[in-house]
Amino acid sequence: MLQELIKLEQEALAALARAGTVDEMDAWRADYMGKKGALTLLLRSIGQLPAEQRPAAGQESNRVKQALEAALEGRAEAMKQQALNAAMAQEQLDVSLPGRPVTAGRLHVVTQALRSIYQIFGDMGFRVEEWRDVESDEFNFQLLNMPPYHPARDKWSTFHTTQEGVLLRTHTSPGQVRTMRKYYPEPIRVILPGKCYRYEQVTARAESMFYQVEGLAVGENITLADLKGVLYSFAKRMFNNNDIRVRFRFDYFPFTEPSIEMDIECFVCGSKGCRICKHSGWLEILGAGMVHPTVLRNGGYDPAKYSGFAFGMGPERIALLKHSIDDIRYFYANDLRFLNQFG
Ligand code: DAH
Repeated sequence: MLQELIKLEQEALAALARAGTVDEMDAWRADYMGKKGALTLLLRSIGQLPAEQRPAAGQESNRVKQALEAALEGRAEAMKQQALNAAMAQEQLDVSLPGRPVTAGRLHVVTQALRSIYQIFGDMGFRVEEWRDVESDEFNFQLLNMPPYHPARDKWSTFHTTQEGVLLRTHTSPGQVRTMRKYYPEPIRVILPGKCYRYEQVTARAESMFYQVEGLAVGENITLADLKGVLYSFAKRMFNNNDIRVRFRFDYFPFTEPSIEMDIECFVCGSKGCRICKHSGWLEILGAGMVHPTVLRNGGYDPAKYSGFAFGMGPERIALLKHSIDDIRYFYANDLRFLNQFG
């Protein structure tokens, strides 16, 4: 028995020295130490030896088992070292190569436009207030003077949700009533930026998700002249042109009375008429008006004592005009070749 053990040990060590891969080492382990391995079988047969031979056989077999385990471990370690040496010899690191530059991020062109808008209105005393994207029919329409049957609702193609009366806001105007209810009876000067959603065909001129910046001023003795002055100052600074020509046209919105739109002169063609201004010489940039008495009342302000103005603009449209971009879809297509041109 003892001789058999010693012979097995020698044979096993020799076989291990020939094992050059992980697979071969696994096979070796199964051959000698596995359930049906040679050593395992020998160990099992110790029980059948005469009693006086058992202790010596037991001791020797333990020694052999430990020796084989240690040898296996040593062999595995050596192979690892070998692999590492080979990799180091092959994959040399050239520390003199230039590093890979980390690409610098930059602000999205719409974020840049939003920040300019905040800055300009901030200087005129307007603070920024944000409201929710998921709105109720009540705030998006009803409190803005559009009852359920009102035809003006058709102006805003709406994403409704499966919950009755819950929708994605189609404009930032619902923030007007929310802001009035928050600040009553204080005078108000805020801008309300945020995303809006419309269930519309996406084209070069319309996205189904876009930003708006709403403006609202409420107080005593606020007039249309104040609105015009604020919007004119804004246009001069936003388009970096102190001589910019603007014009106001009457329009209709259910939540303002009177309602106006502001155009700026077409700087693409110098007002001569081109494709961008649709040969009118003017570019429409926002809608505005005096807050409708019903809307003031819905916000808690008595229209006999208070008045106010409101406006709403699309920062994408402003960025589009500022940079002469001809397709609004570029803004959210995440193409770095486009985005890296700004800032
Ligand atoms: N909410 C309007 C829209 O989405 C824009 C607008 C027009 C806002 C006139 C106003 C306003 O505050 O006075 O088309």
